[in-house]
This record gives sequence, C-alpha cells and structure tokens, in this order.
Amino acid sequence: MIRPRVTLKLATSLDGRIATASGESKWITSAEARAEGHKLRSQHDAVLVGIATVLADDPLLTDRTDPPPPKQPLRVVLDSSFRLPPTSRLAQTAQAHPVVVFGAMTPPPPLPHVRSVELDPARVEAVLDYLKQAHAVASVLIEGGGRVAASFLRAGLVDRIEWFRASIVLGAEGAPGIGALLLQALQDAPRFERLAVRPIGPDLWESYGKA
Ligand SMILES: NC(=O)c1ccc[n+]([C@@H]2O[C@H](COP(=O)([O-])OP(=O)(O)OC[C@H]3O[C@@H](n4cnc5c(N)ncnc54)[C@H](OP(=O)(O)O)[C@@H]3O)[C@@H](O)[C@H]2O)c1
Repeated sequence: MIRPRVTLKLATSLDGRIATASGESKWITSAEARAEGHKLRSQHDAVLVGIATVLADDPLLTDRTDPPPPKQPLRVVLDSSFRLPPTSRLAQTAQAHPVVVFGAMTPPPPLPHVRSVELDPARVEAVLDYLKQAHAVASVLIEGGGRVAASFLRAGLVDRIEWFRASIVLGAEGAPGIGALLLQALQDAPRFERLAVRPIGPDLWESYGKA
C-alpha cells in the first residue's frame, strides 16, 4: 500500500524554536507566513498535531483561506491517553469538521462527533495506514509540536519540510521545533535537499524534499 505523503510544517525562530519556555507561541511568524500555512492545509487531506500542542494552543486546524475550501482537511490528534478536552475548539467543532484522535488505550466515553481510535500513536506508520484505509487520506500536514515532528522524522516518514523562519531568537530554553531524534552518528541524521527559499513578509520560507 502506498502510504500518505507527509509534509512537516514548521514555524520557528531563527534558532528553530516554536515556543518560549512558558509555552508562548502566538505568533512567532508573520501574518503572511501564517496565510501560507493555511494554503498548505488546503493542499493536504489531513492536518496532524500532538496533544501537547492542543493543550497549549487550543488550535482549530481548519483551512481559513478565502474563499473557504469545499472540504476541510481531516483533523488528527496523537493523544495516547485520550486527554483531548471536551471544551477544546477541536472537540467543539467536530460536528462540522471531523476530528480523529489516536490513543493507546480503550477510549473513554467518546466526545460527541470525535472519532477515538485505539491505535498506539507511537506507531506513526500504522497511524498513516489507518488514515489511508479508513479515511482515504493521501496527504498529511504535520503541524507540530516538536515531539511529533521528531517521531515522524525518526521513522523516516517525512517527504517534505515547509519551514517558516522568523527573524527572532528564542534561545535554548525555548521549545524545540524538532524534538529528540536519538541519533547515534551524524550519518544517521535525516537529510533533505533544499528546493526553494523565498522571503514571505518579514520571514523566510524554506522548502525541502527528501534527499
Ligand atoms: N510555532 C508553532 O507554529 C507551533 C506549532 C505547534 C506547536 N507549537 C508549540 O509546541 C509546543 C508543544 O510541542 P511538544 O513537542 O511539547 O508536544 P507535541 O509534539 O505537540 O505533543 C507531544 C505529545 O503528543 C503525544 N504523542 C502521541 N503520539 C506521539 C508520537 N508518535 N510522537 C510524539 N508525541 C506523541 C504525547 O503525549 P501522550 O503521551 O499524552 O500521548 C506527547 O507528549 C507548545 O508549546 C506549542 O505552543 C508551536
């Protein structure tokens, strides 16, 4: 089975941080960069995040391009112990725009209209297979955070990186855009080839494909 194409989107400081130590991340990049981020959502069948991003940012993950798209991307959360709050904007809008949550245990009583799937989200390749088979997903946009980005990179499942970089520096105490890769040697590092670099408002937008 051909797995879904995976794009990793990052919106970081110059030093690759996605939030301050206190978790502040709105907004690191400019309105122009964020508008491109919405266009990326429109180009993918699903948008995927980790539960820590949901708890920190309460994102909607909808494509808010104008005019609105005919179909919104499927919104996907990796959430081992099904902590998605019923009050979250994802859960509150699930009737209009579907949400799928992957957890590693028997799901608690389901949140209305949220699809809870018992499949250990650490098995990222199995998550992709499920999305393909159950929801005909052919492309996935990963929107963070750093730990989820790292797990797809570790598994060699990232086909493309769209990196929006703002001209600020957040330092080592900031949250990393990419979490631990557990590399043993430099030669084990995931490698990408640069496809494009362009200014986007005050930021820089770099695109990479698999080397
Ligand atoms: N600048 C930006 O555009 C941007 C974008 C996104 C996020 N952020 C920021 O990033 C921070 C959150 O990032 P984060 O790295 O701490 O967390 P994250 O990647 O959003 O979520 C990590 C959590 O997801 C769950 N998870 C389930 N399956 C996983 C898997 N296969 N790989 C990794 N995690 C998995 C784990 O919790 P369980 O064990 O409970 O499942 C894990 O602790 C927030 O501060 C947020 O504001 C910024």
